[in-house]
Formats: sequence, C-alpha cells, structure tokens
Amino acid sequence: SVSSLSDHESFLRCFSSHVSPTTNLSQLLYLPNSPDYSSLLFSSIQNLRFASSETPKPLLIVAPADEFQVQASVICCRSHGLPIRARSGGHDYEGLSYRSEKAGSFVLLDLEKLRSVTVDVEHGVAWVEAGATLGELYYKVSEKSGRLGFPAGVCPTVAVGGHLSGGGFGPLSRKYGLAADNILDAKMVDADGRILDKESMGENLFWAIRGGGGASFGIIISWKVKLVHVPATVSVFTVRRTMEQGAIELVHRWQNIAHKLHEDLLLRVDIVHVNRGDRRVVEAAFKSSFLGHCDGLLRHMGEHFPALGVERNDCREMSWIDSAVYAAGYTNGEPAEILVNRELQPKDFNKGKSDYVTEPIPPWGGRMSEISESDIPFPHRKGNLFIILYLSTWRDEGVAASTKHLGWIRSMFRFMTPYVSKRPRAAYLNYRDLDLGRNEEGNASYRKAMAWGERYFKNNFRRLAMVKGEVDPHNFFSNEQSVPPLLAET
Ligand code: FDA
Repeated sequence: SVSSLSDHESFLRCFSSHVSPTTNLSQLLYLPNSPDYSSLLFSSIQNLRFASSETPKPLLIVAPADEFQVQASVICCRSHGLPIRARSGGHDYEGLSYRSEKAGSFVLLDLEKLRSVTVDVEHGVAWVEAGATLGELYYKVSEKSGRLGFPAGVCPTVAVGGHLSGGGFGPLSRKYGLAADNILDAKMVDADGRILDKESMGENLFWAIRGGGGASFGIIISWKVKLVHVPATVSVFTVRRTMEQGAIELVHRWQNIAHKLHEDLLLRVDIVHVNRGDRRVVEAAFKSSFLGHCDGLLRHMGEHFPALGVERNDCREMSWIDSAVYAAGYTNGEPAEILVNRELQPKDFNKGKSDYVTEPIPPWGGRMSEISESDIPFPHRKGNLFIILYLSTWRDEGVAASTKHLGWIRSMFRFMTPYVSKRPRAAYLNYRDLDLGRNEEGNASYRKAMAWGERYFKNNFRRLAMVKGEVDPHNFFSNEQSVPPLLAET
C-alpha cells in the first residue's frame, strides 16, 4: 500500500533529520497500514460524498504538532515530489483539503493537533492555530472576557485554517467585516520551507492569504486576530413562515430592507423544505441576531419590517457566546461548552453553490460595503445586497441519490441566472464549487483559471496569480482550483 512512496527510507530519513530527535514518528506519520490511519482520515471529512471507497486516499497522513514539523513536511514532501493537501477543519464543500482528483499520490497534512488559542484581553487580540475550530476560538475568548467576540462563521466545527484564508462571514460581519478583515498577523510555511510572519512574508503574500485561499500559497500555522467588542446582551429570534403565511412576499420585502438595517443587526433567511405532519412544505426561517436588548431589536423590526410580525415572546436575550450557540442551530439553551465539541456538526452528503445578488431578488450592507474591493482578495463588497448559499443535503448513499440531488442544485443554479450578479457571476471561495471549472492536471493555466478565478476574486485574481508567481513559481501548492502562477514572461 505504500508502493508509490518509492523512496520510503529516504523520506523517513528526511523527516528524522528535520524534527527534534525525541519525536515519536509513529505519532507524526500515518501510513495506510497504521492502525489510526482510517480514523484520522475520516475524523473531519464533513461531506460524506468524499468518504466512499472510490475517493482516492492519501499515501500518507502527517499530523504535525508544532511549526517545525509542518516545516519538515513541506521540505520532505517537496524534495520527494509529493504533493500536499492541507486540512484544518475538513469543511471544504468539494473536499479539496483531503482528496485529490489527480492520479497518483499525495500526502495529507492534517493540522488537527495545532489548535491552541491564546487570548490577550488587555490588547484585544488572540493567536489561534490553524486547526482550532471557530467554536474553540469563540469559547476560549468568552472564557477570558464576556465583552469580546470575533466576526466569523456560524458553524462551530469549521476551522480557522480554511475559513480565515477564504474570507469568513457570520453574525458580526455587518458591523466588523469578515474574519479575514480582522487578521493582524500570520505564521506560515512557504514552498521553500521557510517559516514566515507578516513582516518576513511581505505585503503581497500577507494580502493574498487573507481571502485568497491558503492552499495556493503555503501552510498556515496560526493567525493573530483582532477581537471585537460585543455588548453584555445580545438578542435573537427565529420566525418561521410557510407559503400560506406569506413567505414569498416576506422574502421579497426582506431583499429590499435587510442590507439597509442597522449594522448591529443581521437578519438572514433560510428557505428550506420541511415536514409538517404528512406534508412537505417550503418554509422561510427569518433568523436575527442583534447587538443589544430585545426592545431595540423589536423597535427596528417594527420600523423596517412590520409585516414579519415579530413579537416580544419571539425574542430572547442572552450573552454573545450563547448567541453563537443559538446561531449554530442549538436553540434550546444548550451550554456554551458544546462549541468545543468537534463532532457537533452532523455529517451528510452535500453539494453547495453560491451567488451574489446586486439587485433585489439577497443581507449585506454595513461595514461590508465600506471596505474596498481590493483591500484583501475577497471582493464582494459594495453593491451586493446579499449572498445566496444553495445547499442540497441528503442522507442516502449511492449514485442514484447523488445524481438526483446534484441535478436539482445545478438546475436551480441555472434557473437563478437572470436574477443574480453578472460579468462575472460572482461566487464565494469558501463555498467552493468545482462546477465553475478546474485546473488541468499538471498544466494549470492562468488564462483558463480566469473562468472561475474571476468569479471568486474579480479583479483581484490577477494580483493573486502574480503573488503566486513570486512565491511559488513551480506551483508546489496546488489543487483543482488553486491559483496558477502568473510569471513575468507569461
Ligand atoms: P478545510 O480543512 O476543508 O480547508 C478548506 C480549504 O483551505 C482547503 O483548500 C484546504 O486545503 C485549505 N486549508 C485548510 N487549512 C489550511 C492551512 N492551515 N493552510 C493552508 N491551506 C489550508 N463559511 C462562512 O463564511 N460562514 C459560515 O457561516 C459558514 N458555515 C459553514 C457551515 C458548514 C456546515 C460548512 C461545511 C461550511 C461552512 N462555511 C461557512 C464554509 C467554510 O468557511 C469553508 O468550508 C472553509 O474553507 C472551511 O475551513 P476548514 O479549515 O474547516 O476546511
């Protein structure tokens, strides 16, 4: 099973010479015949579509416990011609962090052991390692201070390695921008195996890894992030309306007001199929989070969205950390400790796609509209009303089910064409979608990649490809949708 690792001995020697002599290699390197290989591989595969026996498996899993072991991994994999896939939380919608469509072999660098979170309340900052989950970050910040939070996503099991390098938005983003907008420093290993920080990596590379996707540029070890102020009381509600209860008119109205609401207020809507008795109905669930008391939230709703009919007993007041539990879908007063449970998010088969809406048909607004499109690689700012995540999830295994669900989401996406952003039809990197295009194996071309690169990054794609040309001209860090290097002579 290790036949492709032809120079096995030399590879092991390389590792031994780059890590501390006391390192136990059996807790660092997992070959397919190691007893823990499978459990480690499957531990954070979030999308069961890529957990089948047909999914190509890594030749080796490396689970580094410190930055020098990450460095050794890059040096030894590169010198032995082995491509790397880096995984932090394993939530990539296309599984690119742990699978490769390329024939041949690859090494999985699993960063799960690198998960410390060091909070400095006095300066309002934290250092958080790539494999830490959002839930761990939120919880550890809240243990130190009830008045500090961080603007990132709602799913507690998503990890900061992928999430922050691709953007990252959540309930606080209308006030404070993306997770990536709040990165102050980073530690990473580049294609030459150097450990770099903000100063030594230089302005261009530091720009690229904040929204341009870490996977194209190196291995992120940790981020220094700016924490943001949250009030002692946060208010939330979830109001559900079926078609009979006027969901269509309400969603239509929502499009016109959500992006204009006060920046302390996020009002998102999930449109879902639900079972009601023996009927399957479409329901719009309006979910709100407000930095303040219910009185203020109800006042805003009364002024801007009276048709929704939110009442006092729909609204609940809680601490910011409890609102993070609520936003994750745990609405029955579950304790904040659940946020550190890395198995919290149930696994399913799924396919995601994204769109941005520029004219009423999507909530954005607030701080998101003030930051310039080229500040960091994530370009979807002013002019966007909202983002749509189309998500099809299913539980039954097999080709028939996946054909049905993939067919549905693709036809839904075609149907939406006239209503969403155009030239380019924009998409969000963290909602990765290989339907938009992919690099040709062994021959990634900037021109071809523009087809999907400009959807994710608009005019920032060219700068990303130039940074890539500077820092990784041989394209060591690559995947089906990584940024190809644009070299001066191209
Ligand atoms: P994963 O480990 O799969 O990595 C994703 C990508 O980043 C891969 O290309 C990987 O190689 C690369 N990468 C990971 N770690 C790296 C490292 N240390 N160095 C370099 N490259 C690295 N998004 C959002 O903005 N708001 C939200 O609320 C949510 N909610 C949400 C819920 C659920 C259930 C899912 C499945 C996804 C989301 N997302 C989201 C999307 C999420 O932000 C996106 O999938 C992130 O990339 C996941 O980061 P992970 O580290 O978990 O993924």
